[in-house]
Amino acid sequence: MKKRPIIIDTDPGIDDAVAIGIALFSEELDVKLITTVAGNVDLEKVTSNTLKLLKFWNKSIPVAKGASCPLIEKPVYATNVHGESGMDGYNFEKGDSSNLLKTHAIEAMYKTIMESDEPITLVPIAPLTNIALLLKVYPEVKSNIKEIVIMGGSATRGNKGVMSEFNVAVDPEAAKIVFSSGLNIVMAGLDVGWKALIYPEDSKLIKTFGTTGEMIYSLFQHYRGGGLKNGLKMYDSCAIAYLLKPEMYTIVDTYVDVELNGEFTKGTTLVDLKGYLKQPNNVRVCMDIDQEIFKDWILKALKKCI
Ligand code: BDR
Ligand code: CA
Repeated sequence: MKKRPIIIDTDPGIDDAVAIGIALFSEELDVKLITTVAGNVDLEKVTSNTLKLLKFWNKSIPVAKGASCPLIEKPVYATNVHGESGMDGYNFEKGDSSNLLKTHAIEAMYKTIMESDEPITLVPIAPLTNIALLLKVYPEVKSNIKEIVIMGGSATRGNKGVMSEFNVAVDPEAAKIVFSSGLNIVMAGLDVGWKALIYPEDSKLIKTFGTTGEMIYSLFQHYRGGGLKNGLKMYDSCAIAYLLKPEMYTIVDTYVDVELNGEFTKGTTLVDLKGYLKQPNNVRVCMDIDQEIFKDWILKALKKCI
């Protein structure tokens, strides 16, 4: 089977770690490059975490360091969710710095996209700073991008602000650039992330899946994206799930914009289901998820991570 070439833009992050693992061990995806961006914790930490994960899985995928802060806003971290290191709960070996490119993430993405025979899918599971910079600095990449599958945004309420989701709220200006880029955009936001849950019994089962299972189980003891009792939210895996099993989603084509001026609502994604803004559809929004299919899919996918 021909593998689909993707670039993951990430800020590990415990749920990022799960998503990266699933992508790396999928027979259907070819992870060409991983780029890092300040998000859950600072740029140095997310980059070091990415290298640690690659070492853990014995994979040598190029990694490029990107933006250390949002375009305009000051950085805001989520250490309350992922811990001070961004991946608290497991004692990883130091990563292998030979995987780290000397070039900036924007340059590395540009090169990877332009040199690819097949259009590349971008999978940002972090604030959209790197992707916005890429599209502004090198607009020619648009001709070889198949789609951008984003974990971010919400059609209802937020997890960072009342209405705003973390990845969009941290860098709303960047998100606006990406959503209005004219590219094929898919949004797997909180509407599905809040239902993509791992319960204690699932977590215990995951622990039996060898070294990866034990590692993820340990991280889950520290992850505050939901409570282990009421379900841990596997936000970032929702973007990978779209690539591998889109039939688990109820998807709506609609217009999405990002609020930049609201006193309380900056960083909200306006998912214009009723067409108030009279704009053409620009995003495929994952509105709902079949929780049974998701659970079955994620457990099988994690079992493959060895
Ligand atoms: C998003 O915010 C981060 O904390 C997670 O890694 C995920 O990408 C969920 O809102
Ligand atoms: Ca993330």
